[in-house]
Amino acid sequence: EKGGYDHFMIKEIFEQPKALRDTISPRITKDGSIKLDNINITKEYIKNINKIYIVACGTAYHAGIVGKSLIEKYAKIPVLTDVASEFRYNNPFIDEKTLMIVVSQSGETADTLAALRLAKEKGARTLALCNVVGSSIAREADDVFYTWAGPEIAVASTKAYTTQVAAFIIIALYLGKLNENISDSEYNTILKEVIKLPEKVDYILNDIFKVKDIASNMMNQDDIFFIGRGIDYNVAMEGSLKLKEVSYIHSEAMAAGELKHGTLALIEEGTPVIALATQDNLYDKMISNIREVKARGGYIIAVSKEGNTSIEKSADKVIYIPDTMDDIIGILSIIPLQLISYYVALGKNCDVDKPRNLAKSVTVE
Ligand code: F6R
Repeated sequence: EKGGYDHFMIKEIFEQPKALRDTISPRITKDGSIKLDNINITKEYIKNINKIYIVACGTAYHAGIVGKSLIEKYAKIPVLTDVASEFRYNNPFIDEKTLMIVVSQSGETADTLAALRLAKEKGARTLALCNVVGSSIAREADDVFYTWAGPEIAVASTKAYTTQVAAFIIIALYLGKLNENISDSEYNTILKEVIKLPEKVDYILNDIFKVKDIASNMMNQDDIFFIGRGIDYNVAMEGSLKLKEVSYIHSEAMAAGELKHGTLALIEEGTPVIALATQDNLYDKMISNIREVKARGGYIIAVSKEGNTSIEKSADKVIYIPDTMDDIIGILSIIPLQLISYYVALGKNCDVDKPRNLAKSVTVE
């Protein structure tokens, strides 16, 4: 059942090119536009709402915060985000002019389901990004975008995350078009790049020697930090969660520009810091942040785009990922982070597929 792999987690990491293809291809027509079954959002509706809420837990929430950036950029609708276990207790502003988007692989997470129900009660339209057909969340939402990732068995979510991010890219473009806030040329250019993502993930997965080597030096660490800015920061949060849940190593993700406001105090001689630097508009700023860490003795493992070789001057190790548009590169930059988590956990003899204290589907609030 593991198809020749040692664990479901690594099998599911390698299934990502297919999962992405299955999620993306059916949504893009031959003439290059987006078609969404199970979603009946009209132009009139979208022009009349004044905000979107994105609510989810854990990894699904991390996909949601990427979704926020994309929707705000392409559709120009303000987006609020919250984790589902906090949302209902934070007096959320939800009414008929709110589109509520919930994200859930299983479709059964209790807090996310409760958030969806509250939003419906308050008159909001609800859209679910969900991986399990017929699950509670998929059944109760007004509109559903299925991530066709296939069954995810490992507790640590991998292919669900990348397909959720892909779903958000498609939804953001779709809403932007409906809303007439994105130009045809931008829409077309992004879609053309989105179609190429699965093969680029494949390309990363075909050469994981360096990532394995980096992981083999991390097993004895007590703390590992992830830093990034913009979408890189969102991906850093997911990378950090993955590492702690499967390897039990303490880890934190930090917005790189915030380091000097406190957390830089944690950096000691040799502290490993995984620095994501994929965003062109933030590259120089990120390099400065990397240097701040380096100057305090941090050991920098950078993740950047092929071509950004200047980063080698500031980082100890560099993992290169293929180039694509900055808005959608999270689907590529998370792959080495998933692999690092897996190989570190493996090296520490952790129960990779069933980490201690965790369950695949959290049906208590
Ligand atoms: C982390 C992980 C969890 C889930 C969270 C939400 O790897 O798997 O953080 O993402 O429990 O689960 P779903 O998406 O089923 O609502």
